[in-house]
Amino acid sequence: MTSLFDPIRIGDLSLSNRIVMAPLTRNRATGGVPNAMTTEYYRQRASAGLIITEGSQISPMAMGYLDTPGIYSPAQVAAWREVTEAVHAAGGRIVIQLWHVGRISHTSLLPDGAAPVSSTNQRANAHTFTAAGFLPVSEPRALHDDELPDLIEQYRHAARCAMQAGFDGVEVHAANTYLLEQFLRDSVNDRTGSYGGSIANRVRLIVEVVRAVCDEVGAGRTGIRLSPLTTFGGSAALDSDPQALYGCLIDALAPLGLAYMHLIEGETGGARQPEGAPVLDYAALRQAFPGAWMINNGYDRDEGFEAVACGKADLVAYGRLFISNPDLVRRLREDAALNALQADKLYGGGAEGYIDYPALA
Ligand code: PHB
Repeated sequence: MTSLFDPIRIGDLSLSNRIVMAPLTRNRATGGVPNAMTTEYYRQRASAGLIITEGSQISPMAMGYLDTPGIYSPAQVAAWREVTEAVHAAGGRIVIQLWHVGRISHTSLLPDGAAPVSSTNQRANAHTFTAAGFLPVSEPRALHDDELPDLIEQYRHAARCAMQAGFDGVEVHAANTYLLEQFLRDSVNDRTGSYGGSIANRVRLIVEVVRAVCDEVGAGRTGIRLSPLTTFGGSAALDSDPQALYGCLIDALAPLGLAYMHLIEGETGGARQPEGAPVLDYAALRQAFPGAWMINNGYDRDEGFEAVACGKADLVAYGRLFISNPDLVRRLREDAALNALQADKLYGGGAEGYIDYPALA
């Protein structure tokens, strides 16, 4: 029987166990650049089989919250290099999540007060955190089709920066109602033309982005994160047919040879089977994907063991448990008590609730 603690090879990466640190926004990268605390935070968590960094904007226009890090400038590359060197020195593996928020942003966060960009002109039902506190997101501007090649180049550039910073790979963030999902879902994408309407058209941008990223870093160092059933607090309604949509997307991704699929089951941070949501046939989705299958969303120790033992997944990504337990792998191995999460210290602030959670003696 496979255990969470068994090593695994996914694409070009050899992982020492199947316990993954999920991407987690922490809003401590003042000015968009990681710092010494960032390095310490990830170093402390290097016993994870794989660390997926917090979402990191691929360009200035990709940012949606105050003090999230980027991966496009020389200063960011240099700062992330400190992080990857620390994690590697501690025996860990780390990929960076490439993030574009699309319409989940505010003009005050964007260059020259620009409007956020999206698949649509329709504003999201969402708030974001700015220098002036929580504010409703701004009205977006729908990207023209002829702007998409440049957007894809931004992903490619960020992927190149990630390699320069020493990451083991990248994860394309196509989940949680951000830009790529804004193109995917018919509840948001109201375009005509090659990137709107049919499912084949709505998956097009994601596939083009993933191709460009694979070109840059290699498919064996590329993963993708999807969330077929999340509304993210009502920011976007579900697609009218998630099974068909995600089935088509995974069919389109399958030939690319990605290292892994990172699937958020249900409502991100909430129920794995949200009330009123369709019951997805995850096994059918998985069967269509040749790479490693990573699952996420509130799994505890027993559920994680069970998922890997019964073959439902190859890897399990833990989010909140990794925030409060830097040595989560050891604690799961020993079935040790877990530190409680300081929920008021998740977003922004300093060392407290970030790098001061104790490891076992
Ligand atoms: C958040 O900032 O709360 C956040 C960011 C990225 C996600 C999910 C949540 O994918």
